[in-house]
Amino acid sequence: MRPITKHILAAGVAAAALMGVNAASAQEVIKFAHVVAPNTPKGQGAEYFKKRAEEILGDKVKIEIYPNSQLFDDDKVLPAILRGDVQFGAPSLAKFGKWTKKLQVFDLPFLFKDMDAVSCFQDGEKGQELLNAMSGKGLTGVGYWHNGLKQLSANKPLRVPEDAAGQKFRIQSSDVIAAQFEAVDAVPQKMAFSETYSALQTGVVDGQENTWSNIYSKKFFEVQDYITESNHGLLDYMVVTSTKWWEGLDPEIRDGLTQAMNEASDYANGLSAELTAEQRQAVIDSGETEILQLSADDFAKWQTAMKPVWDEFSGDIGQDIIDAAAACN
Ligand code: LMR
Repeated sequence: MRPITKHILAAGVAAAALMGVNAASAQEVIKFAHVVAPNTPKGQGAEYFKKRAEEILGDKVKIEIYPNSQLFDDDKVLPAILRGDVQFGAPSLAKFGKWTKKLQVFDLPFLFKDMDAVSCFQDGEKGQELLNAMSGKGLTGVGYWHNGLKQLSANKPLRVPEDAAGQKFRIQSSDVIAAQFEAVDAVPQKMAFSETYSALQTGVVDGQENTWSNIYSKKFFEVQDYITESNHGLLDYMVVTSTKWWEGLDPEIRDGLTQAMNEASDYANGLSAELTAEQRQAVIDSGETEILQLSADDFAKWQTAMKPVWDEFSGDIGQDIIDAAAACN
């Protein structure tokens, strides 16, 4: 190669690097940040999305997954998506309160009797509309991923609502969940997921609510003497991206990512029941905590105590949305 040609090539590569483009392949580097461990439904869903996107699109994309709050806590990830620091996040549906009030529907206590009811609502007309609830804020929902139903844990047995009175519970950043604990005279404390284990360990809070998968993978069961199998609420996710970035993508890449995301959603949602059962059993087998089952009477007492929260939030959420969710039971 003649020196002059070499110089022109080198200048071209340098200019491409300055523009953030990989001259060899113009590869799209896509970051996906989340807060849970890899061995969870969301962790596995994200890995599956990476695998399928890279199989479908080859060198055109490189997907980087950042689990365990390595990059951002959930309250930071949405602004980071809008800035373009990361392209995908999947906060729990409880964490969108600053962006839209409508998604609060998912936090209403005792709204869904099981995960089939959740799927029915998410796949239905109202659930699909909610994927666009934040479009005015620049965020597009590209899918729902299951984790599961929440259980209550504490260092004292929680059998009836009165047992929770005066206890401090770590909660996700949701006003509905705060109201749910206030309804039983408990003291809710909003806190990042990444700080929960140490808050339980040091007694900053007395208890928490979470899914079997999160209780297992973050070892909350090691620092809680009792878990009440209450199934009183839902913890699921919306996978979100920046509307501007998504719509500006080369259509071939967007189609490939859409296919990979749809497959990852099916995969994660299929896996969640299996992981929930497996990790619930692992918590039981650990012998580190006692699992309490509620009698039908006691279950009804929690329901009666917490259900007034629905009325408090129905104006913000929309009664039509609540009705559509409740109709799935
Ligand atoms: C929590 O903060 O407890 C959960 O939202 C964490 C998660 O992403 O499952």
